[in-house]
Amino acid sequence: MDQLVVLESRALTKTYVSTAPPTEVLRGIDLSVRAGELLVIMGASGSGKSTLLYSLSGMDRPTGGQVLLDGRELTSLSDAEMARVRLTRMGFVFQQPHFLRNLDVRDNILLPALKAASRQGRHAAIARADALMERFGIAHVQDHGVTQVSGGQLQRASLCRALAGEPSVVFADEPTGALNSSMSADVMDALTDVHRSGTTIVMVTHDPAVAARGDRVVYLRDGVLVDAHTPGPWQEAEAQQREDDLLAWLRELGF
Ligand SMILES: Nc1ncnc2c1ncn2[C@@H]1O[C@H](COP(=O)(O)OP(=O)(O)O)[C@@H](O)[C@H]1O
Ligand SMILES: [Mg+2]
Repeated sequence: MDQLVVLESRALTKTYVSTAPPTEVLRGIDLSVRAGELLVIMGASGSGKSTLLYSLSGMDRPTGGQVLLDGRELTSLSDAEMARVRLTRMGFVFQQPHFLRNLDVRDNILLPALKAASRQGRHAAIARADALMERFGIAHVQDHGVTQVSGGQLQRASLCRALAGEPSVVFADEPTGALNSSMSADVMDALTDVHRSGTTIVMVTHDPAVAARGDRVVYLRDGVLVDAHTPGPWQEAEAQQREDDLLAWLRELGF
């Protein structure tokens, strides 16, 4: 049986008209993300990966085509409705965590979840955030300032922030891009754990070791999805083989 599609784009285009000539960054993207899938987007620098992620998540308005989240068309929503969908249904992890410096780690994690929650939902959101901090090993630094913790801890905190509102989809743009390889592995272990517990994740990365964790990797070239590689469910024991297979595939695509 077909798994449920959570997120879908149809003939998605994005053209920047501020440049002369206009820059066609996305040129007709058809993509379906299944419930619980870890989908990875790869491609050369400038191929449109971030633009695709932002267009799928409503951070950026596409020029044409449709985006559907849980069957609901997003491209026709007002800015306020879109902001509400982002707050309540989506989680975000970026290369830099974009935390507020005047709040401690815990309050940064709680900020969007509390904003999204109803009055009755606040206790549940707080309990979820506390459980997430335990799970990702940062409970002991929760009252630290964001400049007092390591980059790996901050990125695990941004994962807690992304998950505290129980999103349908987590979007991650180069989540390990600013980390050394050991911190990167920690963050990917956390993300893999999230994926295993059923959260749908769409992630952009240029790092094959990170991408090898994906169920499916799609390749973007000049705004077109040209190929897909399907490693399937992650197995730690197969890490090296998966990375080697992915690298061979990427080499064929001229990455
Ligand atoms: N606001 C913008 N105005 C004009 N061109 C842009 C803008 N943002 C991105 N681009 C262009 O779109 C292309 C894709 O950018 P991006 O999505 O950031 O690629 P990637 O994440 O794959 O490196 C690049 O050529 C970039 O210069
Ligand atoms: Mg990018």
